[in-house]
Amino acid sequence: MTIKGLVQPSDEYKLDHELDLIIEGESEFYKIKGEVYDTPAFFNPVMVLNRDLTILFTKLQSVIQQRKIRVFEPLGGIGVRAIRLAKEIPDAVESVTINDLGEVSSNLAAYNINESKTNSIVAQYQREAKALMAELAELRFKYQLIDLDPFGPPVEFLDFLWGIAQRNSIVCVTATDMTALCGVFPESCLRKYGALSNNNYQTHETAARILIASVVRSAARFEKVADPIFTVSSDHYIKIFFKVNDSRGIANEMANKIKRVGSCTKCQKFKFLEIEETFECHEAKIFGPLWSGNLFNQELCNQALEIMKSLNLPSSEKIEKFLLEGKESHNIPYYYALEYIASFLHINTPKFEKIQHLLNKKGFKANKTLFRKQAIRTDASLEELLGIALEVSDI
Ligand SMILES: C[S@@+](CC[C@H](N)C(=O)[O-])C[C@H]1O[C@@H](n2cnc3c(N)ncnc32)[C@H](O)[C@@H]1O
Ligand SMILES: [Zn+2]
Repeated sequence: MTIKGLVQPSDEYKLDHELDLIIEGESEFYKIKGEVYDTPAFFNPVMVLNRDLTILFTKLQSVIQQRKIRVFEPLGGIGVRAIRLAKEIPDAVESVTINDLGEVSSNLAAYNINESKTNSIVAQYQREAKALMAELAELRFKYQLIDLDPFGPPVEFLDFLWGIAQRNSIVCVTATDMTALCGVFPESCLRKYGALSNNNYQTHETAARILIASVVRSAARFEKVADPIFTVSSDHYIKIFFKVNDSRGIANEMANKIKRVGSCTKCQKFKFLEIEETFECHEAKIFGPLWSGNLFNQELCNQALEIMKSLNLPSSEKIEKFLLEGKESHNIPYYYALEYIASFLHINTPKFEKIQHLLNKKGFKANKTLFRKQAIRTDASLEELLGIALEVSDI
């Protein structure tokens, strides 16, 4: 059975570009000389964190499944992620399949795969990603981890994931269209994600929740459950990891967790709203629909923290902070910005540590968040929090 578009590794780069040798993690590969967005084959060094996360969660998945796993990257670029998986965690991967429609990317990936001697693990296609995924699904190919890493929004590819995602697989989805997701261009968000985004103090968590809702809804249409286990907002992108399973019943429950959120930009009151419920406050607005459930699976974040100790990932320090938020945020939705508390109460911006100390003393949870500097995630009510802010205030 042959699938159209299979590319053979190549011992020479056939096109006419100057190349640079790059070292990332424990792997070496070539990129085309030039600035990130000016070259005809995309490679962004800033995405090292994104690639490290894929390596970590691939390893985690192989530990959970107690076997080497099959990985698929439908938008593989010049093959960096696949080479890193094959070189850095060979004990975790049975195969890595990559694909890219671009002529230059594909040529360079073929050369990189050959040079890195990873061709016994990495298979490469040059196809339109949706067409390839539909064909793989028809042929009943299944993967235990799929990494979708597009330019901009992932939405056009989502419906094609579920036919090739094995039961209990991990699917991770990146979005880089932050201007849409963060409410700079709300019409664009409405068109692509069917949701109203916001650009207030909650913007990055709202963006993540809108993206999650898109993935959950797409999976639910195919009677699949896509349960978010880890959420990262960094640099110019959001990346979410989902555990994927089959269950019409649970898919219904997941779809019911997609709600609108009412939010007040003056006092920071917010509420996930039931159908037809309204929301009133000083400066009330309604956003979404978006995901109202958990952003993290605490147990898996903890397991990932342990596994990371055995890996040599360039961004491990940063990843540790994200995983700790996953482990310790207790999945409390949203956070309160300290400067908004200050302006609402007409006091100086309160010190995080002081508020945290008093909240903890009263038995509440209180943590920082990586979604926003100077903000607090707590299970105390807004009234309680405002009272404590006044108590610690030096005006
Ligand atoms: C963000 S880049 C991928 C980067 C890569 N994952 C990495 O870690 O370096 C997106 C890639 O998708 C490819 N692409 C865009 N649309 C595509 C499509 N419909 N089918 C296949 N490839 C596509 C582009 O050529 C580009 O190389
Ligand atoms: Zn209000």
